[in-house]
Amino acid sequence: MRVDVVSIFPAYLDALQLSLAGKAQSSGLLTIRTHDLRDFTHDKHRSVDDTPYGGGAGMVMKAEPWGEALDSLASEQAVVVVPTPSGTPFTQRTAERLSGESHLLFACGRYEGIDQRVIDEASDRWRVEEISLGDFVLNGGEVAALAMIEAIVRLVPGFMGNPASLVEESHGDDGLLEYPVYTKPSSWRGRDVPPVLLSGNHAAIAAWRREQALERTRRRRPDLLG
Ligand code: ADE
Repeated sequence: MRVDVVSIFPAYLDALQLSLAGKAQSSGLLTIRTHDLRDFTHDKHRSVDDTPYGGGAGMVMKAEPWGEALDSLASEQAVVVVPTPSGTPFTQRTAERLSGESHLLFACGRYEGIDQRVIDEASDRWRVEEISLGDFVLNGGEVAALAMIEAIVRLVPGFMGNPASLVEESHGDDGLLEYPVYTKPSSWRGRDVPPVLLSGNHAAIAAWRREQALERTRRRRPDLLG
């Protein structure tokens, strides 16, 4: 999978060179490239924003540099992802779907957003998805892109050292939050690991975990139970 990220702060994405994502790049499974939007400007001040038509607070990102960046970076198979608080919600299903793509291009806006004509024109040429990380506002799309890329690339086959760790986790197939987990020592500061986990009774352990997952979901995310 190839991932390109365009931003005026490409250093935000440096963290993608660390840990598993860094390893997946060394192994050739994944290629992540970051690009500075200002490299697609031609004026002395390398300007990427201007005042909004119709008035209002803040600045809007100019169409010209974005148009050039997409022209130069988007392949025919690319899905252009625009992180924005006004997008459709990002979920584990979104991550699963995008993990099957061969080329993702993240266009990270700042300020009040990108001139809508960039999105409209790109939609005529590529698949474009405006996606929100959640119901809160960040200063720009970079942190959202970082989170989305991590959620997506860990689902690419071959990415996880132990693919079994993808099987039972929150927001998986059963729609429940994950059950609590414990490791050694079995007693710590007067708190004991639930005895069933030490019993060796696999059926009882599975039943306990399911009950814990249900209870946790009921308490924290009743909306998931429908
Ligand atoms: N940019 C700013 N806020 C955002 C959010 N909540 N999700 C995605 N992109 C954003």
